[in-house]
Amino acid sequence: MDNANINEIGATAFIIAGIRALEDARDEPMFSDPYAGLFLNDELRERARQLTEVHFAVGDAIRLRTVAFNTVVENSIRQGVRQVVTLGSGFDMRHAIFATGGVQFFDVDQEAVLKFKASILAGKGIEGCKAICCNYLEADLPDELIRAGLDPDQETLVIWEGNTMYLPSELIMGFLNRLCDRLSRFRIGFDYFPRSVLDGTYESAEAVEIVRGVQKVMNATFLTGFDSLEAFETEAPFRVVDAGNIIEIGIRLGGPGTERLLGKTAFLTKELAASYWIALLERRRGD
Ligand SMILES: C[S@@+](CC[C@H](N)C(=O)[O-])C[C@H]1O[C@@H](n2cnc3c(N)ncnc32)[C@H](O)[C@@H]1O
Repeated sequence: MDNANINEIGATAFIIAGIRALEDARDEPMFSDPYAGLFLNDELRERARQLTEVHFAVGDAIRLRTVAFNTVVENSIRQGVRQVVTLGSGFDMRHAIFATGGVQFFDVDQEAVLKFKASILAGKGIEGCKAICCNYLEADLPDELIRAGLDPDQETLVIWEGNTMYLPSELIMGFLNRLCDRLSRFRIGFDYFPRSVLDGTYESAEAVEIVRGVQKVMNATFLTGFDSLEAFETEAPFRVVDAGNIIEIGIRLGGPGTERLLGKTAFLTKELAASYWIALLERRRGD
């Protein structure tokens, strides 16, 4: 199986895996993803390297995002969550990295991506998790998840990493409301850009340029950003549980030592740091 059927949005998953694959070779890694390299070839590794060259902080932003979502997954499992859904999972391997008895992981992505992932894992004798192949904006995702074994009334963590920027904005609230209609207890974590960074009106021209450079290497256009999280509470039944710019939340969730490992990225201007965010929402009970 080769990756020829994977479209441009699917292909972005390789580049992110390429950044994760660099981590274990560092003297002091922030995290370990021993699987990321399995999905790569030399050309894809080169694309990941190009991404780190857009600006010194770009690779670190993705490292911090990995650490932040790792912590959310680990903390949730520690607190008793037994269902983890990864939307637009790409080559995320948290189901293997954080495998814990009784915890079910569900990957959701386009068929070509998940088929390629499954073929690589099968070739190495590594078990995948439950795979739901669909465009999650079009499918009846709750129905697909329930058919795959998800209990809609049990606490669920949804990881939505590296996705929101690729989606048409007008479809997002409808999609989230459909999830809320059927899943009564869940939290969802996602990363996002302020809309102003994408439309070029953001206060830092440097940040706007960096994010343009990222889109060029990713060969994809970032369509959607959020200047505020208010709509998630007014147009959908969520409560914002946590939110922070990538440096603040990454260092906070990464824990002691994370800041030192970032070197000069830790001293980014406030404007640059605030050009990329992570948020965690909880479905409000009873709404
Ligand atoms: C940048 S990659 C991120 C992959 C992974 N979450 C990570 O952080 O490594 C985006 C992934 O989301 C998937 N994706 C984007 N929109 C999607 C949609 N509407 N339905 C299914 N998958 C989608 C793409 O196919 C791709 O694998």
